[in-house]
Amino acid sequence: MENAKTISVLLLVTFVSVLGNGVDSKLKAGQTISEIDRRLKLLNKPAVKSIKSEDGDIIDCVDIYKQSAFDHPALKNHKIQLKPSVDLLSEELDRRNESPRPVMMQTWQKSGSCPNGTVPIRRIQREDLLRAASLENFGRKAPEIPSSANKTNVKETQFMSFNDSKPLGFPPIVNRSAALLVTVGYNYIGAQGDINVWNPKVDLPDDYTTAQIWLKGGPGDNFESIEGGWVVNPKLYGDKLTRLFVYWTRDGYKSTGCFDAICSGFVQTGQIALGATISPISSSGGSQYYVTVGISLDPNSGNWWLKLNGNVVVGYWPGSLFGYLSHSATIVEWGGQVYSPNVKKTPHTKTAMGSGEFSHSLQGSACSIEHVRIIDYSLQLKYPQWVGTWADEYYCYDAYNFVEGYTTEPVFFFGGPGQNPNCK
Ligand SMILES: *[C@@H]1O[C@H](CO)[C@@H](O)[C@H](O)[C@H]1NC(C)=O
Ligand SMILES: *[C@@H]1O[C@H](CO)[C@@H](O)[C@H](O)[C@H]1NC(C)=O
Ligand SMILES: *[C@@H]1O[C@H](CO)[C@@H](O)[C@H](O)[C@H]1NC(C)=O
Ligand SMILES: *[C@@H]1O[C@H](CO)[C@@H](O)[C@H](O)[C@H]1NC(C)=O
Repeated sequence: MENAKTISVLLLVTFVSVLGNGVDSKLKAGQTISEIDRRLKLLNKPAVKSIKSEDGDIIDCVDIYKQSAFDHPALKNHKIQLKPSVDLLSEELDRRNESPRPVMMQTWQKSGSCPNGTVPIRRIQREDLLRAASLENFGRKAPEIPSSANKTNVKETQFMSFNDSKPLGFPPIVNRSAALLVTVGYNYIGAQGDINVWNPKVDLPDDYTTAQIWLKGGPGDNFESIEGGWVVNPKLYGDKLTRLFVYWTRDGYKSTGCFDAICSGFVQTGQIALGATISPISSSGGSQYYVTVGISLDPNSGNWWLKLNGNVVVGYWPGSLFGYLSHSATIVEWGGQVYSPNVKKTPHTKTAMGSGEFSHSLQGSACSIEHVRIIDYSLQLKYPQWVGTWADEYYCYDAYNFVEGYTTEPVFFFGGPGQNPNCK
């Protein structure tokens, strides 16, 4: 037995060193193949079944009780919740008097499904880790550093005026450019929106672009955030496809949290794979497609549940991951964000946001978020009382809450091309 093990280790070593030559050259300083493989073993739990998707992903069906979420120290004695105890998000879709929209699809689902008692998890591959700047930062957003903290570069802090409420200053953030609809003023226990699905261009190797919802709480320099939507992020995923993502942090992205289930935390209970590609994609002047992203606190368990299209349960962020967010959020944002070392400078990145068109081009051209909703402690799903729009660089990416007449509610449009004659 021992001998057999030694031989297979030897064989593996030989195999790796033969394959290794090409790979070695891509290693960053301080990385070794064995460190990378050790990390892969921690990240990827043993699969009951694996599905090869036509987009190149491998989806592992992992025992629901053995998913990596439970490696998190805060979840040591966590009892898994299999479904939310209350359902505040789906009622609204039932009430809507409109013809059903085409349902968002995950590409891997064409190639199979996961057995009962397992959850689908996108396998992290060695190439994914090799693309990362470092193993520590793999799957993580960079910390949000206000550029006003940079004494040599104090740009004007912009203010957003809410109707009648106090103006809210957002400091400009290094390497990030956002176009948002924002609400504050209450304690929020849920938010939802129908996010129009597009595939914007990503220009530079470190860039990514999102369309998403944020629920935030806590102090500005160390906030907690839970997030979900779609993203194009070639550095993380290895291609320029539009993918479903979630994110969380409890310290302003400094040292906690990650995309999807790349670090432990988010508990999956449904049959949606985080980080997997979604389709169909909207086309300019053609069919429009949406994914309804709904996040709500289950008051009985303290867990924040994520549902898609009203009734497709994805899983939850356990309340024990958070401090402030364990009871409510104090700010909700809908919209897009471009991460790039080349925002707020010349030459500006050509990475686009939304559809790549500015918000004023409206329906069928600009990216929209419709049926914007919050839940406060009245437990009603409703349009927020106060909203404001915000754009860091309105000549590169902008935001417009469009109201057509008095009978319809606003539709939020956002996005832009990045670099253009007014945004050099
Ligand atoms: C999976 O579980 C559900 C509910 O427990 C049950 O109705 C269904 O028959 C099971 N399916 C399979 C293939 O075992
Ligand atoms: C601070 O500003 C200077 C001058 O604009 C710039 O060279 C430097 O990279 C900035 N530092 C950070 C951390 O953004
Ligand atoms: C602000 O609220 C008042 C009263 O509700 C309304 O008449 C007005 O149009 C609002 N202004 C804006 C800019 O939304
Ligand atoms: C911004 O991007 C540059 C270039 O990739 C990087 O060196 C720097 O650390 C980034 N700063 C922040 C705060 O993300």
